[in-house]
Amino acid sequence: MYAFDETSAIAAMDVETIRQDFPALAMQVRQQPLVYLDNAATTQKPQQVIDAISHYYAAQNANVHRSVHYLSEQATAAFEGVREQVRAFINAPQSHEIIFTSGTTDSINLLASSFAQQYLQTGDEVLVTDMEHHSNIVPWQMVCEQRGARLQSIPVSDTGELQLDRLDEYLNERVRLVALTHVSNSLGTINPVADIIRMAHERDIPVLLDGAQAMAHMRVDVRALDVDFYAFSAHKMFGPTGVGVLYGKSHWLESLPPYQSGGEMIESVSMTKSTFAELPYKFEAGTPNIAGVIGLGAVINYLQKLDASQVKQHEQALLHYARDELQQIIPCRFIGTAENKVPIVSFLLGEAHPYDVGVILDQMGVAIRTGHHCTQPLMQRFEIPGTVRASFAFYNTRQEVDRLIEAVNRARDMLS
Ligand code: ALA
Repeated sequence: MYAFDETSAIAAMDVETIRQDFPALAMQVRQQPLVYLDNAATTQKPQQVIDAISHYYAAQNANVHRSVHYLSEQATAAFEGVREQVRAFINAPQSHEIIFTSGTTDSINLLASSFAQQYLQTGDEVLVTDMEHHSNIVPWQMVCEQRGARLQSIPVSDTGELQLDRLDEYLNERVRLVALTHVSNSLGTINPVADIIRMAHERDIPVLLDGAQAMAHMRVDVRALDVDFYAFSAHKMFGPTGVGVLYGKSHWLESLPPYQSGGEMIESVSMTKSTFAELPYKFEAGTPNIAGVIGLGAVINYLQKLDASQVKQHEQALLHYARDELQQIIPCRFIGTAENKVPIVSFLLGEAHPYDVGVILDQMGVAIRTGHHCTQPLMQRFEIPGTVRASFAFYNTRQEVDRLIEAVNRARDMLS
């Protein structure tokens, strides 16, 4: 079915050497070598990231932007250095367009709250899609409710792709913002975001992309995409938990009111009035996750040393191999069969509940995720309670796909 030479693509990348950078991959679980296929939930971390965080706490720990002493200068320089690194990594025009947050959810909540205050009025619409993570639905639902606006949603086809034939109709004069995922966390579908952004911009509608699932699999260029806002988390791209980014075009961010308030985001405070700092600090109230930001810098360094096209080839080879092998297991049914996908395979095994499949796989040392994956509207669209989801990263191997297949076969035998 797939004319892809997975063996040669997998061989092209020195995965065994790469794996040595990730201590967790060498673990034994349930008396067997761990097969970690839950990368869409969170990725494992290379030693370089772990070391950078330890080094910060051991030798650089001080608060940023506050004190004149040596350590504070060191910490501030390291912290602001990462802002510039992120800017370059996603090709943003200016470093003050990079806002550090606690992750994608926080980035979207920031934008939803500030954008709604400034731009949403009764009768307006926010357009999302049926494949959004709850993080890109609920914040918009809440602000729409507060402002008397409506949430509209682009439907999804049987193959798990956006039904864009009616996009023109959805992008009506009431829409104030389009908020959609770059890559589906449940299905792996890569959305045609450049086309959607172009169509939205033709109608002067800004676009937010939820990039949580994209950053581990592709190089994102916000300037080439011409996207207005882009949100992502470090922990889904081999970095630490608790830190993420909201990129926003300067003119948009400047026009928005602050989200949270307190220290760091002010220019001056009196008991009668406060004025706010310039970008990016206007949106960074309180002491930030300094160690997390430094870990994010370390993972960007790490990813920049990898050959992005080799990573893509290797991941696609794993995806094709896993799908080819899984589809030989009767009764395995795939949910999400788009052509353009990151290496995520979502499936059902006959009538077996995904949770039961997950428990059996875990007993065999294979870590996958089961359930609705925080995408209940998408599960409702497919009329299923959830799926079994195997999500791969560049450090996974063909042998690990074989372990997955062996475990799924076992689950089928036990549950049928
Ligand atoms: N959003 C994460 C996932 O898809 C947690 O598993």
